[in-house]
Amino acid sequence: MEIRIEPVQENQKKRKCTNPAELGFGRYFTDRMLVADWSEREGWFDVRIVPYGPFMLEPSAAVFHYGQEAFEGLKAYRWNADSVALFRPEMNLKRLIRSATRLALPEVPADLFIEGMKELVRLERDWVPESEGTSLYIRPALIATEEALGVRPAAKCRFFIILSPVGAYYATGFKPVRILVEDRMVRAAPGGTGEAKTGGNYAASLIAGREAVKRGFDQVLWLDAIQHRYVEEVGAMNIFFVIDNRLVTPPLSGSFLEGITRDSILKLAPTLGLTVEKRPAAIDDLMNGIRNGSVQEVFGAGTAAVVSPVGALCYQNELATIGGGTVGPVTQLLYDTLTGIQYGRLPDRFGWMQEL
Ligand code: PLP
Ligand code: COI
Repeated sequence: MEIRIEPVQENQKKRKCTNPAELGFGRYFTDRMLVADWSEREGWFDVRIVPYGPFMLEPSAAVFHYGQEAFEGLKAYRWNADSVALFRPEMNLKRLIRSATRLALPEVPADLFIEGMKELVRLERDWVPESEGTSLYIRPALIATEEALGVRPAAKCRFFIILSPVGAYYATGFKPVRILVEDRMVRAAPGGTGEAKTGGNYAASLIAGREAVKRGFDQVLWLDAIQHRYVEEVGAMNIFFVIDNRLVTPPLSGSFLEGITRDSILKLAPTLGLTVEKRPAAIDDLMNGIRNGSVQEVFGAGTAAVVSPVGALCYQNELATIGGGTVGPVTQLLYDTLTGIQYGRLPDRFGWMQEL
């Protein structure tokens, strides 16, 4: 695959945020982006790394009307002054292909996704921040660009990757978050697009998220669409519980995202002496368990959120505080182990890291 690389002019260079505390999540972008186009007739063409900037798309482009789109999220971590590493990028490629298939989008080839991403991050390596807890968030996305209002899979698409130096996803950092359990609205139903990483799922979650923030919570915990009883996932992370000293997480149902952090935790946990159970967890049982102490810890897991302790769950106006609002030992151990591997401080026994 040939990548055309356009130079960045002095006046196109972006301001670097020098205070890591101000980075937040997804507010700053780097100088360059990768772009490639696809058409039904020609396949993929014109792979290029160009200065970050606006796209010219016609208002009739399909993505603006019917949401035909899929995206990914992963991170590059700074190991030392000359070394940067990616975490399991092949997993994101596989998931993007699954999401694209569900959304009738074309498959992104492995060399475009992996080699294109590596070349972009290599060129932008100075943007990978170095202070504790920061990283370079990588956002690949695939959109339908065909100018046509007919409801059918677009015959023209665009793939792009943008980069954003980030700090903690939650303003509170590695502190317990407060979660509101949504018992009316649903995020995704069986047979729907819940397990695809597509914008529509997030659009459908926004008003519940806004309501939760208004009520003093950080995010929403979604329940299953049929019985409104079994927990599925949080707004931007998968959910885990420590119940009677076992690590419990819901089995994949097709209606929530198969997280790469979730998969990594499920692989790491047994090596740390933890017993893992993938089983459905009903919200009423969990609330009882929090009250009687059998639910010892709750945490979320995701690329942006890493491992985020949950300090309180609110369900039908009942607020249950977990572990006195402090970070539990299993949550801390998994956070330390996962971030230890990602930042190159611990041995990478699974071969997850790819140094550039
Ligand atoms: N669930 C949702 C809805 C998400 O947005 C994310 C974040 O990507 C996750 C789960 C966790 O997935 P991953 O660990 O692959 O980032
Ligand atoms: C991620 O963790 O990569 C996400 O995509 C979560 C959210 C920012 C959408």
